[in-house]
Amino acid sequence: MKISPIMSNSYNNVSFSSCARIVKNKSGSIIYRNTTTFFRNDLDWNSLCMYIKDKYKNANKVNLVCYACSDGSEPMSLAMLIKENFGNDFQKFFPIVAKDVDDVIIRRAKSCFVNMDIEDIRTINNYTNNNIRNYFKFPRKALGIEFIPALINPWFKKGINYSVADIKKDCSNIPSDNTLLFFRNVWPYLADDSERMKLIKKIKSQFSKNCAIVIGNFDNKNISTHNLLLDAGLKESGLLKNVYELG
Ligand SMILES: C[S@@+](CC[C@H](N)C(=O)[O-])C[C@H]1O[C@@H](n2cnc3c(N)ncnc32)[C@H](O)[C@@H]1O
Repeated sequence: MKISPIMSNSYNNVSFSSCARIVKNKSGSIIYRNTTTFFRNDLDWNSLCMYIKDKYKNANKVNLVCYACSDGSEPMSLAMLIKENFGNDFQKFFPIVAKDVDDVIIRRAKSCFVNMDIEDIRTINNYTNNNIRNYFKFPRKALGIEFIPALINPWFKKGINYSVADIKKDCSNIPSDNTLLFFRNVWPYLADDSERMKLIKKIKSQFSKNCAIVIGNFDNKNISTHNLLLDAGLKESGLLKNVYELG
């Protein structure tokens, strides 16, 4: 897919996991940023885990669908959370479907390595009971260098299917039952409230049974995605901020 017109883009920070790539149009205005990080801290990941356990306890298959996945930090965080907390049941959540409108960032997400800094390693160890080596291999010692190259273990890599997609055109592919849809920290990049509401209505009509959507703090900065979701008839989960269900 071609995103046009892209005149410039840059990686301000070479860390994969703290990606801060900016994509601008011809006149220099920002179209969007790929900013992301492992276990981005605007979501309470431990409560999310409890929420998923309860909501999908009777489901044989759960669809974790992550649009605006950027470089993969978000779906990989989700995959680690599931693997650590669901024992043998983890298979019913895999593969996670991860999509982004940006073909450059999806190429990067599909690669088999990540560059991590010490903070990424600390965060991942925190959520995986110091089990980072179950997911990543560190081929060389990295003492004294800023970023540490890590290879994604093949079994873990297979747990996420990446592809390029614009959510506005791809809604019909969202599974309608037992779906947890991530579209986080991206709503301000849509044109205006009318485009946002059109998308919310499409997503809502796609949802049938036991579905929810997860947004981020950035989505309520300057624009109020929260109010738009409520206006469309969704309700915020009583258990967890930033998660909305059919009312
Ligand atoms: C700031 S990043 C958010 C990454 C991640 N969701 C997080 O919260 O850390 C926003 C991403 O949304 C993607 N994006 C923008 N518009 C999109 C659309 N219409 N459909 C799918 N992805 C989109 C951009 O390419 C970018 O990677």
